[in-house]
Amino acid sequence: MGDVNTLDERLAASREALCAHLGQRRPRIGLVLGSGLSPLADDIADAACIPYADIPHMNESTVASHVGQFVCGTLAGREVICMQGRLHGYEGNTAHEVAYPIWLLAGLGVTTLIVTNAAGAINAGYGVGDLCIIADHINFTGRNPVAGLGLDTPFECFFSMTDAYDPALREAAHTVAQREGITAHEGVYLGLSGPSFETPAEIRAFRVWGADTVGMSTVEEVVAARHRGLRVLGISLVTNMAAGIEGASPSSDEVLSTAEQSRVGLSRLIQGVIAGL
Ligand code: HPA
Repeated sequence: MGDVNTLDERLAASREALCAHLGQRRPRIGLVLGSGLSPLADDIADAACIPYADIPHMNESTVASHVGQFVCGTLAGREVICMQGRLHGYEGNTAHEVAYPIWLLAGLGVTTLIVTNAAGAINAGYGVGDLCIIADHINFTGRNPVAGLGLDTPFECFFSMTDAYDPALREAAHTVAQREGITAHEGVYLGLSGPSFETPAEIRAFRVWGADTVGMSTVEEVVAARHRGLRVLGISLVTNMAAGIEGASPSSDEVLSTAEQSRVGLSRLIQGVIAGL
C-alpha cells in the first residue's frame, strides 16, 4: 500500500475504482471465501469479476488456492460481493492490509459479512467435513487491525467484541443446517498467523483455553468488520483434525482435498442463510 496517502484517501481511491467496475450494483452482503473454497463463487450469477490487482492500494492474494478477485452478482436471489480469496498475515500482509478489503466493502455499503475458512478441529467431537458456526473467537495473531488508526477517526477504537458473531445470524444458520440435514456445530475459533501448523502442545493449550477450531485467518477481518459495525456470520469447514488430536499431523494437501470434497454443504448453508436475509 502506498504510505503517502491516509487510509481514508486510499480507501476512497479503491472504492472509486471498484464502483467503476460495479456500475449500478451496490451489494449489501459481503462474502469471504477461505482456503479451497474459491469455487463457491461459481454459483454467483451475472457475475462481474474484478481482480484485486485492478484496485489501487489492494494487495494481491499470493496463495494458489485463493483466486484473488472480487466477484459481484446474484446468489440465492440477493446481490452479493464476494472475496474469492483473502489476504493472510502469513503472506506478509500487515493487520491493516488484511483488514483493508473489509473496510473497502464497508465503504461500498456492505452491512452483512459472511466469512468462511478451512479449520482444524481441536474439539474431538467434531469430524472432518463438518461445519462449525463460529460463536466467538480467540485472536492469537498478536495483532489488531484497528491499532494505529488514530484515536480521532469517526469510528470508535474501543469497541465491544461481545456478540461479534451475530446471534441472530448464527440462529438462522442453525435453522438452515437443520432443514438441509447438514452437520453444523457451534464453537470458538482460534486464529493465528501461521504459516506453520501448530504443535500438538499448542493445540492442547488452546483446548484448555476453550478453542474448538483453529485456523490462519478470519479474526483480524472480523475485528475490522465490527469496527465498522457490520453484522458478521462466520462458518468454518473442518478440513482436518488439529495437530495431535487423534494423532493428526495436518498438511495443506489434506486441507485442500477435504475442502474440495465437502464444500457443497457449506455452499448450501450460505445460500440458505442469504436467501433468508
Ligand atoms: N491449523 C491451522 N490452520 C488450518 C488448519 C489447522 O489445523 N486446518 C486448516 N487451516
